[in-house]
Amino acid sequence: MKGIILAGGAGSRLYPLTLVASKQLQPVYDKPMVYYPLTTLIESGVREFCLISTPHDLPRFQQLLGDGSAFGVRIEYREQARPAGIAQAFLIADTFIGNDSVTLILGDNIFYGGDTFARAFADFTAGATIFGYHVNDPERYGVVEFDAQGRAVSIEEKPKQPRSNYAVPGLYLYDNEVVAIARALKPSPRGELEITDVNNVYLRRGAMRVCRLARGFAWLDAGTSSSLHEASAYVQTIEKRQGIKVGCPEEAAFRRGFLTLPALAAAIGRMPHCEYRDYLEGVVTEARRLGHGQP
Ligand code: DAU
Repeated sequence: MKGIILAGGAGSRLYPLTLVASKQLQPVYDKPMVYYPLTTLIESGVREFCLISTPHDLPRFQQLLGDGSAFGVRIEYREQARPAGIAQAFLIADTFIGNDSVTLILGDNIFYGGDTFARAFADFTAGATIFGYHVNDPERYGVVEFDAQGRAVSIEEKPKQPRSNYAVPGLYLYDNEVVAIARALKPSPRGELEITDVNNVYLRRGAMRVCRLARGFAWLDAGTSSSLHEASAYVQTIEKRQGIKVGCPEEAAFRRGFLTLPALAAAIGRMPHCEYRDYLEGVVTEARRLGHGQP
């Protein structure tokens, strides 16, 4: 399955932070925001990526992530000239997607915990899979309604009167049909190609699966100054308490088998001395102790 990271948009809610660096390059505690969605997809087994951003910001992402080899993956880059909707990503990346299925993750969505994603990726064969997450303020999101049997019956974008508290997070899995569906979309009243319209096509076809994310699962939004701060505080709390990093793509790539131990050690060798490097050296030491090969 191919992976798209959508990391464009104006970032106006974070002004003046976003005057120089885009939202998805802002720090979330100890690493750039885009590391988190990248890690989520690596953990889910995605190895081929297309990162989409603005013509202004794309070179910064290239500087940060390169061709992906430091993470044992391949990353291509495409421009979105203006933010004309999340679903436009499938048109921008159509040649990247080719004949494959594709997952799209929003570059400002941070997920942590559980194995729901790993199972959803492993189980995916056709149609679409999205997720439902109980929130306090569903009117800010796409909202999914379930019937008594737990089947999704409606998906609405930012409804004034939400039919449930289940928001749709920014991680979507689609079969190859999504390109044709996106091509046939008309812009919404706000002038965007809406991801919710794509999801409704799958829902009407009876090809939509919605997995509810469990209580212990964290989905954080980092789109405003206070939610950015809260996301940093959350990551810091987990990392300090557990001594493990959230959103560390090198570690995820190693655990997924995308980077061998020698390749991970080589990547660490290129890093300056810092806390991030110390952490990864700890991962290597532990792996060697457990007999995962000698770099
Ligand atoms: O966060 C999940 C929500 O994301 C979903 O529940 C909604 O159904 C979905 O429409 C979307 O809602 P938002 O209002 O949060 O979308 P927003 O316009 O803020 O865009 C989300 C991210 O995607 C943001 O970081 C910028 C980026 N983006 C957005 C658009 C419209 C792009 O890179 N290009 C775009 O054209």
